[in-house]
Order: sequence, then C-alpha cells, then structure tokens
Amino acid sequence: MSARPRVHVTGAVPAEVQRSLDESFELLPAPAGADGILALLTTPVDDAFLDAAGDRLKIVANYAVGVDNIDLVAARRRGVVVANTPDVLTDATAELALALTLALLRRVVEGDRFVRSRAPWSFSLEFMLGSGLAGKRFLVVGPGRIGRATAKLAEAFGAEVDFAGRDDDLRTALAAADVVSLHVPLSAATRHLIDAQSLAAMKTTAVLVNTARGAIVDESALVDALQRRAIAGAALDVYEREPEVSEGLLALDNVVLTPHLGSATRDTRTAMGQLAVAALRSVLHDGRLPPNVVA
Ligand code: DGY
Repeated sequence: MSARPRVHVTGAVPAEVQRSLDESFELLPAPAGADGILALLTTPVDDAFLDAAGDRLKIVANYAVGVDNIDLVAARRRGVVVANTPDVLTDATAELALALTLALLRRVVEGDRFVRSRAPWSFSLEFMLGSGLAGKRFLVVGPGRIGRATAKLAEAFGAEVDFAGRDDDLRTALAAADVVSLHVPLSAATRHLIDAQSLAAMKTTAVLVNTARGAIVDESALVDALQRRAIAGAALDVYEREPEVSEGLLALDNVVLTPHLGSATRDTRTAMGQLAVAALRSVLHDGRLPPNVVA
C-alpha cells in the first residue's frame, strides 16, 4: 500500500501543476477512496460526489476562487476542508474586466468583425464612433479584491468609481452608472442580482460587464433589455448556463463575449494550481489547515 496521500483531479491541469501533484500524491482516476480532491470549477462537488469519494476524504481544493460549484454545507457536514485560490488571479481578472469594457465602449470586436467582412470603408469622421472611459461613472458591484483591483484600473483610465456592497442601495447606484462591472461571488443571495428591474434602473446609455459568474445576471432579461436598447451594451465572460450562451446574445452587435477567460493567463493558471496543491499538501502531508480555507 502506498504511503502517499491519494488525490483525484477532476480535469486536466497545466504541466507544472501536474508535476507538483505527481511529486506529492498518488493520483486516482476517480474520486472513490481519495484523501483529497483537486476540483475544476466545472465539477459539481455535491452530496453525490462527496459520497462517491467516501470517508477518507479530508479536503477539496477548488482550482478557482469562486466556490459556487461546491456544496459547502455538505462538505462541512462531513468535516471536509474546502480551499480556493484567492489573490493570485485578482490582477488577471481585473485586467479582463477592463479589456472587455474598453472593447465594448471602443467597438473593438465589432470593428474587427467589420474589417474581416471585407465591406468597403475609408476613414471618415462619423464612422463607428464609440465612447471612452474618462469622466464616466464606473460602478463596481462587489468591492472585494477583484472589484477593488478593477476600480484601480478604471481610475487609471479617468473613470470615477463608485462601489456597491451588500448593504448599499443597488438600484440607486445602478441608476447613476455609465459602466456596471460585477464582482460578487455567486450565492443564493446574488443569483439574478441583476434582473429585469435592475436592468430597468440602468441608464439607456449604460453598459454591463460580467467577469464574475453568469447566474448573477438573469440572462433572458439581459437579452430582452439589449434587444430593446434599454441598456447600450454588455460585455460578458460568464454565462448563466455555461458553456451554453443565449442565442439572443450571439445575434447582437452591442455585445462582446469571451469564454470564461478571467484568470486565463499561463502565469495565473499555474499560480492557482500551485496554491491548490499547497493546500492539499498542507492538509494531507502536514495535518495543517492552509491559509486559503473557505470559511
Ligand atoms: C474563478 O477562479 O472563480 C474564475 O472564475 C476562474 O478562474
């Protein structure tokens, strides 16, 4: 019998992270009998999954900062520690929020599509005008680490930043904003936080940016608002029924879409993986709780 703790990994990981796993653990092809799980955010870690893993399970390390794929109550009930990957993805995610905002406001993706279409054009003063960030009211919904980092970048582009936290009046904040950028975790309290009423509170010239979780926005209400031009546009990295994307979004020019790329830089993904592996080692080799335990 191997003396090394047994870990199941729910998906492919970068080569460097794989090497770290190989060095420290015996890797299992399925959850049954595992001491630890390294879970991708696409793996629902619920009662059924935890039952399949069995009684030896001590830790689930999520390869993400968001833990909405994990039933925390079910894990707690079994005494299973849950860890995530905070901090190391803050800058990458904030960067993407700004990239999406600028791509939408300055019509970068629409312009790219236009050039590729080979439609005839020549420079002219009224052609494909967008707007800049300077002087705009940029609302960060969720003033956590990523929200604050996004705010700093928006300020660097001359935007005036407002924050909406749990205790603030969201509708009033939405009504004043030119850009609304979402940075709350997904929970029962934040599911459809941006619904038809919230969208109706926004200015018709305002845009919505979501790099957090898709289900924070009622996607069909968003499609409806965009089609009616009740808001000016949306830039989305995440979707309510990911990886499915509403047909209505695909058809609109005032929408920029990316496939959940918030943390998708090589350095960031490696750092996230190493942080998750460190949490597994901490619990399974040293018998200590890691600093990145989810409360
Ligand atoms: C996260 O970590 O929660 C992101 O959505 C993916 O990196």
